[in-house]
Amino acid sequence: MLEKFCAEEPSLGCDLVFVGCNVATMKEGGDVPYGMIADGVVGVKDGKIKFVGKRGEGDADAVVEGAETVKDLEGKLITPGLIDCHTHVIYGGSRSKEWELKLKGASYEEVAKAGGGIVNTVKGTREGSVASLVAEAAPRLKAMLSEGVTTIEIKSGYGLEEDAERKQLLAAAQVEKDFGVKVQKTFLGAHAVPNEYKGRDDEYMDEVIKMMGKLNEEGIVDAVDCFTESIGFTVAQTEKLFGAAKGLGLKLRLHGDQLNDFGCGALASRFSALSCDHCEYCGEDAIDKMAEGKTVAVLLPTANYFISEEKLPDVSYMRTKGVDMALGTNCNPGSSPCCSLLLVMNMACTRFRMSPEEALRGVTLNGAKAIGLSEEIGSIEGGKKADLCIWDTLEPAELSYYMGLNLLKECYVDGVLRK
Ligand code: NIG
Repeated sequence: MLEKFCAEEPSLGCDLVFVGCNVATMKEGGDVPYGMIADGVVGVKDGKIKFVGKRGEGDADAVVEGAETVKDLEGKLITPGLIDCHTHVIYGGSRSKEWELKLKGASYEEVAKAGGGIVNTVKGTREGSVASLVAEAAPRLKAMLSEGVTTIEIKSGYGLEEDAERKQLLAAAQVEKDFGVKVQKTFLGAHAVPNEYKGRDDEYMDEVIKMMGKLNEEGIVDAVDCFTESIGFTVAQTEKLFGAAKGLGLKLRLHGDQLNDFGCGALASRFSALSCDHCEYCGEDAIDKMAEGKTVAVLLPTANYFISEEKLPDVSYMRTKGVDMALGTNCNPGSSPCCSLLLVMNMACTRFRMSPEEALRGVTLNGAKAIGLSEEIGSIEGGKKADLCIWDTLEPAELSYYMGLNLLKECYVDGVLRK
């Protein structure tokens, strides 16, 4: 059971060592659920995980004795810091009025076609400044972080013109400085066709490709995403964008098969995109391709619930084919005003029939895969960043079992306690 990761002299190795805990390492391989180490020891040095093992075995006791600080958790659970791999948390304005309309019977697609939806939020976002966008997002971010999110992906896509897209990406970068959370910035200029390009979708896609080049040169883009849908962009337009993005060496993501089957799983796989997100309408062929291409399926149960979508992603077939499934809040003003990754985990289990272990993997290691950072974060393994959550329970299933109970006790980012 012992895993030794310490440097040559483990007893001298660690600044901070946790004992008295169950460690859900979420490491891949092995047949122990959650990669769990009962009565575990986790050693941290210089912001990284230096040692993971079991009390009383191998070097574990020496690591404890040689540590600068030993923290006895007296029976708590440690997991990797949570990763919210799909959000649109930065935007201006509110769409609660539109939601009232939908409750009276209008569908998500109908609202979008009537000029509501994404384009509606564009106005509020264009009017905002970097500071006001961060301030508007602050309550949402605080709620997410209070549940142990240590890495968040934030998409642009409510600017739909160069300056406003830049503002959103800069606001995302500001979040990393202000909130003690790691941020991955995704350019989603291809989220919708703005009013000024109505009926000229191809021209707008050319503009998106230009914007992408400029914003990438400015160093504010980590990945590129596209909304491939009846109310978004066609497969051909997506291919054009992805071809250009690949030329720039950017990581790719895809909003795919949320409302219709456009073969997006296969499209994502063909371009070696990190993920295909939503996936409700992904058929077996597409899922086969995702398995071949190691494309992560990012599932977004709160969006599925909020827009009253009856079609569910084929989790059972994904599981059979070994497709990695990740989860995100998809925090956005239209389809998922959700600021709780714990609720997402619960709904992944209740609505999509994922297991609590799959749900936790979806917001840790598989979330890291979806943003291309699984070498650095997502599991408790030697050499990875010491992003850790400590929960007031010993049972990992409790994280997805409760609705509205936050068991987080403490959260460490790069080995430092987040206040
Ligand atoms: O992921 N699908 C596209 N984007 C969002 C919706 C954003 C909005 O409606 O403002 C989503 O569901």
